[in-house]
Amino acid sequence: MNDNTDKPAILGGRALRPQGPPDWPFPDPEVAERIQAALRDGSWGKYHGPHVTELAELLGRSHGCEQAILCSSGTAAVELALRGLGVAAGDEVILAAYDFKANFQNVLALGAVPVLVDVSAESWMIDPKAIAEATSPRTRAIIASHLHGCIADLPEIVRIARARGVGVIEDAAQMPGAEVDGRMAGTLGDAGILSFGGSKLVTAGRGGAVLTSRADVAQRIKLFTQRGNDAYPLSELQAAAVIPQWKRLQAANAQRRVAVSGLIKELAPFAGLRPVRNGSSNSRPAYYKLGFQYDRSAFSGLSRDDFAAALRAEGIAFDPGFRALHKTHSSRRFRTAAALSHATRADESVLTLHHPVLMGTQADLREVVAAVERVSRYAAEIGAWFARVSPPPK
Ligand SMILES: Cc1ncc(COP(=O)(O)O)c(C=O)c1O
Repeated sequence: MNDNTDKPAILGGRALRPQGPPDWPFPDPEVAERIQAALRDGSWGKYHGPHVTELAELLGRSHGCEQAILCSSGTAAVELALRGLGVAAGDEVILAAYDFKANFQNVLALGAVPVLVDVSAESWMIDPKAIAEATSPRTRAIIASHLHGCIADLPEIVRIARARGVGVIEDAAQMPGAEVDGRMAGTLGDAGILSFGGSKLVTAGRGGAVLTSRADVAQRIKLFTQRGNDAYPLSELQAAAVIPQWKRLQAANAQRRVAVSGLIKELAPFAGLRPVRNGSSNSRPAYYKLGFQYDRSAFSGLSRDDFAAALRAEGIAFDPGFRALHKTHSSRRFRTAAALSHATRADESVLTLHHPVLMGTQADLREVVAAVERVSRYAAEIGAWFARVSPPPK
């Protein structure tokens, strides 16, 4: 029986972090200085100033790719990458059934058919074997996303795609600056994409980029976006905000990796919280989220969503993962070639920790562990409380 001294916040106790999770982005003097300079020199109000060009060159150089095409969001970047690969109405595009919703919507927006495949049992990233089985003469492209700090098996996916003459889009929205099999994330396929959206590791509030070394892909994108004006632009001010963050990204990613390895060690005793596995040892992930496979049986049956809500009440930014695409869209809108059982498990069981705390102090990281420990200890009581306040539908 638990006494009341350490009662979880969700049951009326004092939150471990009453101030809530760290706000993002952090105050950033270098970004402020860049923006001030853009205000001083008037580039803030121009169609064409120095920042967009500088950022495109910086991204191209740091990825070792021919073209970095800046655009208005990661979502737009995926659409442009699909267009760059020549995807058109009636084509098929393969993607994981557990992926970001906009990737699915982008395929539909082009009049193409999403073909949903399963994720692998260990990593819950898109399964190369499932891709091989799902290809058809109509397959035009594959979208492979790195999610929740876990790296998709791009080398194998690219090998399968090349053998079939199919293009690969590597979605690195959650992995900027990471290394995949010794190469920069976003450069392993025919086109890679980045996001500078408001919650991302490098943020301009909105924004994105397509990375490619294929001249035909870049050319198709430019033909589509350049209409006398850029139809999907990233502004001078957004580029000004991204540049200093990109220059510090490797150091920040390294700091987050240290925090993650410490957290994983500290959380190891919680058998129901298994970090998603990274395949290749030659990879260095970036942690936009730290993903876990949640097993409710290790927490007195407490559901994943209620576990996350209890941790949020403690001021720790745990959230359920994505809804799987086959669970949230009519089956008329996609094709499947095989069972999606691991993606269904991912839909039910992915739990993520949002990144800002990974740049925090040791005390911040200890609070994460203390919150998990507290919620775990009171799991049965919390489950009973949720059953009282929100009984499951009959
Ligand atoms: C995997 C993935 N791809 C694409 C995007 C889209 O990025 P944006 O929010 O910039 O449109 C996101 C955004 O969260 C994402 O997580």
